[in-house]
Amino acid sequence: MGQKVEREPAFESISVAEFFYRNRQMAGFGNSTQAVYSTVRELVENSLDSCEEALRSPLVDITISSLDPEVCHVSVSDNGLGVPVEYAPEAFTRVLYGSKYRQRQKRGAFGLGVTMAVLYGQVTTDLPVVVHTQTEEDGGTEFTLLIDVKNNAPVVKATRRLRRGSAGTTVSLSIKGDTKRARERIIEYLRLTSVSTPYARISLSINGEKESFGGVSQELPRNPIETKPHPRSADLELLRRLSSDAMSRGLREWLVDSFQKVGEKTAARLLEFISLDSRQPVSSLTREQLTVLAGGLRKFDDFEGPDPRSLNPVGKGQFLLGVQSTFSTTATQYAARVPSEWDGHAFIVEAVLATGDDFPCSDLPTVFRFANRVPLLYDASEDVLTRALRKVNWSRYSLRSSPPAAIFVNLSSTRVPFKAAGKQSIDAVPSIEAEVVALYRDLGRKLRKVVNRGQRATRVSRKKKEFSKSFRLLAESSANLAECEVPEYEGMIQNLFEVDEDV
Ligand SMILES: Nc1ncnc2c1ncn2[C@@H]1O[C@H](COP(=O)(O)OP(=O)(O)O)[C@@H](O)[C@H]1O
Ligand SMILES: [Mg+2]
Repeated sequence: MGQKVEREPAFESISVAEFFYRNRQMAGFGNSTQAVYSTVRELVENSLDSCEEALRSPLVDITISSLDPEVCHVSVSDNGLGVPVEYAPEAFTRVLYGSKYRQRQKRGAFGLGVTMAVLYGQVTTDLPVVVHTQTEEDGGTEFTLLIDVKNNAPVVKATRRLRRGSAGTTVSLSIKGDTKRARERIIEYLRLTSVSTPYARISLSINGEKESFGGVSQELPRNPIETKPHPRSADLELLRRLSSDAMSRGLREWLVDSFQKVGEKTAARLLEFISLDSRQPVSSLTREQLTVLAGGLRKFDDFEGPDPRSLNPVGKGQFLLGVQSTFSTTATQYAARVPSEWDGHAFIVEAVLATGDDFPCSDLPTVFRFANRVPLLYDASEDVLTRALRKVNWSRYSLRSSPPAAIFVNLSSTRVPFKAAGKQSIDAVPSIEAEVVALYRDLGRKLRKVVNRGQRATRVSRKKKEFSKSFRLLAESSANLAECEVPEYEGMIQNLFEVDEDV
C-alpha cells in the first residue's frame, strides 16, 4: 500500500499590502534612493491636497535626518485639515483605503501613497509610523501605528491626546534609504513643485542643511467640484459596486442618480438603445444584462462630455509666476487647450514655454512634466508628454534661432492614466496625446512670433546704427561746407525708426 504524501498547498493568497510590498518597484520604492524620494513625495502630496481642501495657504515642513548611513527618519508636517481620529489608523495603514465613487482632481490617486511609505518603513526598519493630527473640531491625537501586512489592517500600538499649535498633520517614519543620493532629486522635486504650486511655502531640512521653496503667491486655487462618475467611465466593476448599493430601485432612476450627464430623457434613450426596461429593479439585473449595460454606456454617443469643473489647472497667472520665480528666463508664454476627455474622464492640458540660459541647448525644448501639479521626475522617455514633443516639427518654429527653450506641461485630470502605481509616467492615451501635440504647436507658434520679433528688432537696430553713422558724416560735411554748427540729428533718426520699433 502506497504511503499518503502530505503536500504543501502550491498556492497561497496574499493580501493587497503583501502584493504591493513584493512589487514595491511598481509603487516607486524599487531602491533605497527612490524610496526616500517617494516617501517625501507621497507625504508632501497628501499635505498639499489637504491644505488646498481646507483653502489654506500650505505651510509644509520636511525634516530628513540620517539615523545611520542606511536608515533615515522622515517627518512631514502641514497646516491642512487634519484627519478625524476615527479614520486616522485606517488612512495611514490600510492599502487602497477610501471611497472613490465621487471624482474631483486631487494629487492622491488610489489610497496607496502614504501606506506604501509606512509599509516600506516597517518592513525595512521594523519601526512604527507616528501620526500627530488635529482637526478644527478635536484637540489633537498622536498615533503610533504598524500595519498587519497579512490582513491589510492597522495595529494601533499607542494613542495619546496631544495638542498641536493648530489643525494639521505630522507624519514621522523611518525607512531604509540613502539620503545623500536622494537629496538632489528631492530638491529638484520641491523646486518644480513651487512652479506648479507657487502659493505653497515648503521648508526642507536634510541633516541640518536648510532650504525653502515657493510662497511667492497669496492666491489660492479654488476647490474643484466633486462630480459623480461619467457614464463613459463606468466599467463592469464600477457598475457592480454601484448596483449593489441600489437595492430595489428602477434602472432609469438609478442611472440618473449614479452618473453625471444622465437626465431622465437621456437615461430613457440609453435604455431603449440597449433594450432594457426602465423600471426593471437594479437588484434583479443579471450578469449578462450588466455586461450589456457596460457596453451600451460606452457606445451610446448622446452623453455630453464630463464636467470640467472637477478640474483644477494651474492657470496662466500662477503658472507664469511659478516658472519666472524659479528659473531665470528671457521670455515666457502660456497656452492651454479646452477641456477634453479620455474614456469619460475629464482632462485639460496647459503649459508654459520659457527661454533662457538656465535650460540646456538642444534640438527639442527640455520638458518638465506635471500631472495634477505633481512634478514627474522618473521614466520620462515613454511618457505621453515626452512622446508628443517628438511628434512636433520644432524646426518650423524657429527653435534654433531662440535661446535654449523649456516646456513646463501640466496634465490635469480626475484620473491620470499612469503607467504604474509609482505615478511617474503617463500612458499614451490617443486623445491626450492629440491635445498635447496641439498644445505644443500652439506654443511653437508663440515662440516663432517672439523669435521673429527679436530678429526684426535686431535688424532695425543694425539699420539704425548704419543710418546714424551716415547721417553724422552727412551732417558734419554739410556743416563744414556751410561753415556752421553741426545740427542735432539724433532726434531725427529716432523719429525715423519709431514706427518700425513698435511693429
Ligand atoms: N497630511 C494629511 N492630511 C490630511 N489627510 C491625510 C494626510 N495624509 C493622508 N491623509 C488621508 O489619508 C488618505 C490616504 O492617503 P494615501 O494613502 O496617500 O492615499 P491617496 O493620497 O491616494 O488618497 C488620504 O486620502 C487622506 O484622506
Ligand atoms: Mg497620497
